[in-house]
Amino acid sequence: MTEELQNDLNEQNKYIGILTSGGDASGMNAAIRAVTRAAIFNGFKVKGIYRGYEGLITDEVKELTTEDVSSIIQRGGTILKTARSEAFTTPEGRKKAYETMQKENIDTLIVIGGDGSLTGARIFAEEYNVPCIGLPGTIDNDLYGTDFTIGYDTALNTIVECVDKIRDTATSHDRIFFVEVMGRDAGFLAQNSAIATGAEAAIIPEDRTDADQLETFIGRGFRKTKNSSIVIVTESPKDQNGGAMYYAERVKKEYPQYDVRVSILGHLQRGGAPSANDRILASRLGEAAIQALMEDQRNVMIGVRNNEIVYVPFAQAIKNDKPIDKSLIRVLNELSI
Ligand code: F6P
Repeated sequence: MTEELQNDLNEQNKYIGILTSGGDASGMNAAIRAVTRAAIFNGFKVKGIYRGYEGLITDEVKELTTEDVSSIIQRGGTILKTARSEAFTTPEGRKKAYETMQKENIDTLIVIGGDGSLTGARIFAEEYNVPCIGLPGTIDNDLYGTDFTIGYDTALNTIVECVDKIRDTATSHDRIFFVEVMGRDAGFLAQNSAIATGAEAAIIPEDRTDADQLETFIGRGFRKTKNSSIVIVTESPKDQNGGAMYYAERVKKEYPQYDVRVSILGHLQRGGAPSANDRILASRLGEAAIQALMEDQRNVMIGVRNNEIVYVPFAQAIKNDKPIDKSLIRVLNELSI
């Protein structure tokens, strides 16, 4: 940390600002707690900014004490609330946000969110020379440079619980179920939940060629002793030729002999108490954010790779597509025979 910034923050008149932005993810509260407590432990003061960048524009800001973050580690959602701010994508919006920072004596910003939120942080940091640190908070697990994002593990466990239940009814009725899960353009949730539930197949954006091999998928379910089939499908928000409904309709037309149902898990995947893994990850990353500030890091996302804390420049975390491990596709294929 530069001497000037360190002095400013320690003079007790400057604050570290923290906000959560984009889709909420379980474990965000644990991260807010970790940042607040680690900051105070190291002699800094923290202000919480409400509703993401919206609150920075409209000045919805409040100092956070250690007590304010008591008993939140186990809660889903985010006590700071969140939003996808349209206004912050405009230069006028960011100007207002900067004015709020000056008015509130906020010197540095810690942003917990996904791709869009860190993109906002990057642009803002460059425009106004504000030190920003990002924490990966999204159930999609799609940020490059970190093995895991906060909220992914909880969402994955929620999906597994749901699919186990769907399996009971699928087997009882000899049906094919297409289960749609979140992930936007990333198949981590679909691929890994398929492995964890013993599903017959996963249709993921990273492996579109396979996605068209419906016959293979269906065949896997209806062979030998198997008389039902579960296919996990990543949602397809931008493309109508995707998502569970699309594949279910195709099967109904192309294989009318099968009894097909669709289950779209939707936003229940985003809620609930964070898993132990997400609480630990959020605590480690939140604490590391303060360490990073003290080391004069700026415009980096804190990540974890091979269980080690890493600093990933915003440009890398946002721009690069995080690849899915192809061996996971093989594992599912081999085990679902
Ligand atoms: O990015 C997290 C996520 O849950 C995606 O998986 C999903 O596509 C999107 O957010 C849904 O956003 P919203 O809650 O705004 O509809």
